Amino acid sequence: MIRTLIVTAALMLAAPLAAQAANCSVDLEGNDAMKFNMSNIDVSRGCKEFTINLKHVGKMARNVMGHNVVVAATADMAAINTDGAKAGLASNYVKAGDARVIAHSNVVGGGESTSISIPVAKLTGAGPFEFFCSFPGHSAMMKGTVTVKP
Ligand code: CU
Repeated sequence: MIRTLIVTAALMLAAPLAAQAANCSVDLEGNDAMKFNMSNIDVSRGCKEFTINLKHVGKMARNVMGHNVVVAATADMAAINTDGAKAGLASNYVKAGDARVIAHSNVVGGGESTSISIPVAKLTGAGPFEFFCSFPGHSAMMKGTVTVKP
């Protein structure tokens, strides 16, 4: 009986530790050459939330060479971009309330940073998933895969 309690307590302690051990965030950079420094982001299922920290390491202003990061199913990317371009910079190039968007950040300019938190439970079903910049014209170069790992 006591032994069972101890094992149960150990398991309860181990679960959050395992979640902490998984790497639940990544530092992503965008630059003045319209590029991200990564072409894939691995997301562990052990993470409840996964954070992408985006830093614009260039110098150009957000209205000229601004970057954001959007996470969505690859199949939704084109439509999100089209609607985002219409929504404009004031809406961070994402249509308000766009249900296809799993997570998105603000648009940042040179020297600025932002971050997004992705509920990992939403990265199921209709994958594959992609991260990209929805600033008009950028996603052709600024995109990569989001791979969910066990
Ligand atoms: Cu961009």
